[in-house]
Amino acid sequence: MIPSAAATSSSSSCPMATAVAARLLLPLAVVLAAAAGAGAVNDDVLALVVFKSGVSDPMGRLAPWSEDADRACAWPGVSCDARTGRVDALALPAAGLSGRLPRSALLRLDALLSLLLPSNNLSGSLPDALPLRVRVLDLSANALSGYLPAVLASCQSLVSLNLSGNRLSGPVPDGIWSLPSLRSLDLSGNQLSGSVPGGFPRSSSLRVLDLSRNLLEGDIPADVGEAGLLKSLDIGHNLFTGGLPESLRGLSGLISLGASGNALAGELPAWIGEIAALERLDLSGNRFVGAIPADISGCKNLVEVDLSRNALTGELPSWVFGLALQRVSLAGNALSGWVKVPGDNASALQELDLSGNAFSGVIPPEVASLSRLQHLNLSSNSMSGQLPATIGQMALLEVMDVTRNQLSGNIPPEIGATVVLRKLLMRRNSLTGVIPPQIGNCRSLIALDLSQNKLTGPIPVTIGNLISLQMVDLSENKLNGTLPVELSKLASLRVFNVSHNLLSGNLPMSHFFDTIPDSFISDNAGLCSSQRDNSCSGVMPKPIVFNPNISTDPLSEVSPTVPSSRHHKKIILSISTLIAIVGGAMIIVGVITITVLNRRVRTAASHSAVPAALSDDYGSESPDNEANSGKLVMFSRGSPDFSAGGHALLNKDCELGRGGFGTVYKAVLRDGQPVAIKKLTVSSLVKSEDEFKRQVKLLGKVRHHNVITLRGFYWTSSLQLLIYDFVPGGSLYQHLHECLGKSSPSWMERFGIIVGVARALAHLHRHGIIHYNLKSSNVLLDSNGEPRVGDYGLVKLLPMLDRYVLSSKIQSALGYMAPEFTCRTVNVTEKCDIYGFGVLVLEILTGRKPVQYLEDDVVVLCDVVRAALEEGRVEDCMDPRLSGDFSMEEAVLIVKLGLVCTSQVPSHRPDMGEVVSMLEMVRSSQSTPADELV
Ligand SMILES: *[C@@H]1O[C@H](CO)[C@@H](O)[C@H](O)[C@H]1NC(C)=O
Ligand SMILES: *[C@@H]1O[C@H](CO)[C@@H](O)[C@H](O)[C@H]1NC(C)=O
Ligand SMILES: *[C@@H]1O[C@H](CO)[C@@H](O)[C@H](O)[C@H]1NC(C)=O
Ligand SMILES: *[C@@H]1O[C@H](CO)[C@@H](O)[C@H](O)[C@H]1NC(C)=O
Ligand SMILES: *[C@@H]1O[C@H](CO)[C@@H](O)[C@H](O)[C@H]1NC(C)=O
Ligand SMILES: *[C@@H]1O[C@H](CO)[C@@H](O)[C@H](O)[C@H]1NC(C)=O
Repeated sequence: MIPSAAATSSSSSCPMATAVAARLLLPLAVVLAAAAGAGAVNDDVLALVVFKSGVSDPMGRLAPWSEDADRACAWPGVSCDARTGRVDALALPAAGLSGRLPRSALLRLDALLSLLLPSNNLSGSLPDALPLRVRVLDLSANALSGYLPAVLASCQSLVSLNLSGNRLSGPVPDGIWSLPSLRSLDLSGNQLSGSVPGGFPRSSSLRVLDLSRNLLEGDIPADVGEAGLLKSLDIGHNLFTGGLPESLRGLSGLISLGASGNALAGELPAWIGEIAALERLDLSGNRFVGAIPADISGCKNLVEVDLSRNALTGELPSWVFGLALQRVSLAGNALSGWVKVPGDNASALQELDLSGNAFSGVIPPEVASLSRLQHLNLSSNSMSGQLPATIGQMALLEVMDVTRNQLSGNIPPEIGATVVLRKLLMRRNSLTGVIPPQIGNCRSLIALDLSQNKLTGPIPVTIGNLISLQMVDLSENKLNGTLPVELSKLASLRVFNVSHNLLSGNLPMSHFFDTIPDSFISDNAGLCSSQRDNSCSGVMPKPIVFNPNISTDPLSEVSPTVPSSRHHKKIILSISTLIAIVGGAMIIVGVITITVLNRRVRTAASHSAVPAALSDDYGSESPDNEANSGKLVMFSRGSPDFSAGGHALLNKDCELGRGGFGTVYKAVLRDGQPVAIKKLTVSSLVKSEDEFKRQVKLLGKVRHHNVITLRGFYWTSSLQLLIYDFVPGGSLYQHLHECLGKSSPSWMERFGIIVGVARALAHLHRHGIIHYNLKSSNVLLDSNGEPRVGDYGLVKLLPMLDRYVLSSKIQSALGYMAPEFTCRTVNVTEKCDIYGFGVLVLEILTGRKPVQYLEDDVVVLCDVVRAALEEGRVEDCMDPRLSGDFSMEEAVLIVKLGLVCTSQVPSHRPDMGEVVSMLEMVRSSQSTPADELV
């Protein structure tokens, strides 16, 4: 049987297939099965079983193919000729078959007309013979390698050959163009090389020829146009040189011509316009030069033209707007002149890419008459002037890219009418003015890039409406104000870059903003987040939300005090970074100005006696007529000059600490007096100069033994300094919690501190000043251990902001904040200071921080003390370091006072005046019964 089968197949295959089947090694069962039956039908079963045994079939698609069958016609992938019963088609696309293509088995299917095995993983080389009558052969998207067999050129019946997407190499076989029936030849995506043979006969049936994505070189065959029925020709992404062969002009049926990504050169031939049926023309990525022929207007059916990445010059051809064209890319040429856009709505243009040319002048307002335009790319040109307001009429515009031009002026508010806009990319222009709030109407926006412009003002709240936004880049502008909390609604946000602006305040609260990379927010006037260890001090209204693993110690709010602790080192490190990035330049300018101005002030002062009184026209003021200079005002006589000058301020060693309002530096006055200088980091939030001055002068009038005196201030719009008395003894926080000094304060010292702070607050309240920010780190001790309260009243320097922002900005000291702070409907009064005072009292008595973080618990001090008092074991709460040198009776009184002050309801808290009287009573009469107090 075997020799006879071999003889049959060899007689019915393409020439040169000699006795291949004789080499078949058939399993015994197959031989027996074939022997049992008879005739060609059984030969088909045999051949397919051999085919099956030759490939690996992990998906089991060939499982039903059994050698026991008489006929193969019902097997999956197999079909037979109804009359003869012979297998005439094998179609197993994407069947997961791998292994070497079973060439000999295929050869035995001698009635096969169609073999379709695309998108498998078959390897090996092509058969060097094919069944005689094969008309359609599709082995595309496999892993076949080797040369194209010359025998292909003699398979007279072949109608369609698709070998694309394999690893075939070598030349395109000679004579292949002569196949009389061949209508479609796809050899794309292989590694074919050499030059393409000519010899296209006039009788060619070829409609589709795809040689793209190979390594073919030399000229495009000059006679390709002889194949007069060609509809589609793609020779793109090869190494062809020369020009387009003129024979192409005769291809009256050519619909698609692709020659992109070659090295074709010369001018674009005007005769392209004669290819009347042309719908798609892609000559991108070549070396064509000169003007784009106007004659292309002859191609009335053009839909898509890509001439990008050549070296074309001259004007935009007017046919771009005239034909039925839908997509035009002329990107990456050297075109320079606009033509008039006809204002007649006739254009079908949907995509226009003119990026990377030399177009200049304004974007013509008539561009809006391209009413079907969806995609406009004008990036990397030299367009100038304002974006036309008519853009709002482009109802279908989805993408607008004007990146890297010289556009100036405002972004027109009309942009809000482009409701289907998905991408608005305007990076690197010179746009000014504010971002129009109308942008919030562009509901489809996914990407908004306005970076590297000169935009000012706030980020509009309406951006919070753009819920599809994924990418926002507003970096390198001059935007100021705070980030709208509405941004937290943007759930798809992946990029939000606002670095290098003048923004301030808190980041919105959302997972995205909690984990936002530094480089998205760096270099602003002061953007901060609770979730980040290195931004401004804690901003959460409720301790419970805090992550205990993040450094949240109240010390991060530091008043003029001595740097000593480990915390300080950490803080100072981050300040250096901060200064380097944000304030460096500003403070240098500020300090130099101060030094210069002080010299003038001193000269002026020597001519006229400066009044010491704090009347409205007190003090020495520097002239402020120069444009950029600041104003230094000292409230008292003395020497308004820093002996250490700029060095003191610039030297990082002189930094004392940092708080929600600013960084504090130590400096020395000319007369040797040390001062603490607070540089406000909230400068962008600060009110106008007049209001600032009025408020600071009010604070400057405060004179009290227990209050740190404000000596003067310095003002420019970008830098504000407050000059305070320097208090050398460190903060109460350090004495209580960091053992600064020899030992912790004694009972009498603690009592004295409580009384002193109470007097200080009473004095401030009498002068209408609410402290707002009382806590142990803001109470400094002088060399006698007397308390001096600092950082008072600064909130009044800020304009009235959102209560939450305000409270988080200042009341960073957790646990000290009165509950009404978080409640928008309650007015904040002096009573909030009394709450903070109550907490401070308990802190002093217990030696514990107002809020403590345990492993998985948050302990709020006043709750603990209140519970202990109710259970009659308040002694347990007292600071164990107070070794019995106090009367418990007295201590209980003061604990009760502290608890009354921390009443939830503001009106239940006493006045500061009452508190002072009570404390004085305790002091004078050690035996006052507790009942009288509560
Ligand atoms: C394709 O076949 C080769 C070996 O013939 C094998 O290594 C590879 O994993 C197969 N790939 C797929 C996707 O089946
Ligand atoms: C050839 O096969 C590939 C992949 O299977 C397919 O994408 C391509 O359209 C085919 N070519 C022709 C001319 O049909
Ligand atoms: C163009 O179309 C728009 C909207 O479809 C219409 O408002 C305008 O009048 C038209 N202009 C012309 C010149 O037809
Ligand atoms: C606009 O064109 C430039 C250069 O050709 C390209 O990099 C950019 O991705 C295009 N823009 C859009 C939105 O497609
Ligand atoms: C933002 O800057 C503008 C000047 O460009 C100024 O008028 C405005 O007050 C600033 N707003 C804030 C919140 O600082
Ligand atoms: C944000 O923008 C700045 C300035 O344009 C840039 O340097 C930085 O790399 C950007 N950040 C990220 C994460 O892309």
